[in-house]
Amino acid sequence: MNLTLKIWRQKDASTKGQMVEYKVTEISEHMSFLEMMDVLNEQLVNSGDEPVAFDHDCREGICGMCSMYINGEAHGPDRGVTTCQLHMRMFKDGDTITIEPFRAAAFPVIKDLVVDRSSFERIQQSGGYISVNTSGNTQDANALPISKHDADEAMDAATCIGCGACVASCKNSSAMLFVGAKVSQYALLPQGQVEAADRVQNMVAQMDLEGFGNCTNTGACEIECPKGISLENIARMNRELMKASLK
Ligand code: SF4
Ligand code: FES
Repeated sequence: MNLTLKIWRQKDASTKGQMVEYKVTEISEHMSFLEMMDVLNEQLVNSGDEPVAFDHDCREGICGMCSMYINGEAHGPDRGVTTCQLHMRMFKDGDTITIEPFRAAAFPVIKDLVVDRSSFERIQQSGGYISVNTSGNTQDANALPISKHDADEAMDAATCIGCGACVASCKNSSAMLFVGAKVSQYALLPQGQVEAADRVQNMVAQMDLEGFGNCTNTGACEIECPKGISLENIARMNRELMKASLK
């Protein structure tokens, strides 16, 4: 495949960015999207130009680093995949592909396609954990029976990889799908009950502090989420917040 790429180039956080056009040739349909980007970068390096900066780590849909907005969609046109799992067979010869960073005030651009998602880390630090007694009296995990239904729902919520596609897809730049998943993961389990009220209040307060918008039930986040995190998690977070405010 021969392709035209229109890519957001931005030197650093304080410099104005712009779309720059590149051509890549002989791209195999079996390549991943990031492998196609590697071909472009090799081409740029060989011609003495600066390669396009983009985030990646695992390249298998686990780490949540590969944040790219491709043809107007977070992680591109396929469903249930991250950018690193996107295949070039989703495109055809002669296509023009537009590649931008995830855009949200709480995800400032660091360089080219790399954004700063440390706001997610601060939300996690504010409550995304449980306190466990490790003094020698640690309770055996199997001592607490958990229904299959709750275990499955908690596991589904725990599959959120913190990629930020929900934020990038939302017209309000809301992080409520992410925070809803992190709150739900513990709200469904007995281990999460002790700190439940503080957790949801602190995480929502931190989310607001970081500048994320509110949810207006558009549902774009659920559609673009590579892990299929359900809007039900936002409803559960709101219920948890209501419960906490009544304590
Ligand atoms: S909820 Fe989905 S889109 Fe949002 S951070 Fe988690 S995995 Fe990514
Ligand atoms: S590089 Fe890890 S999820 Fe894409």
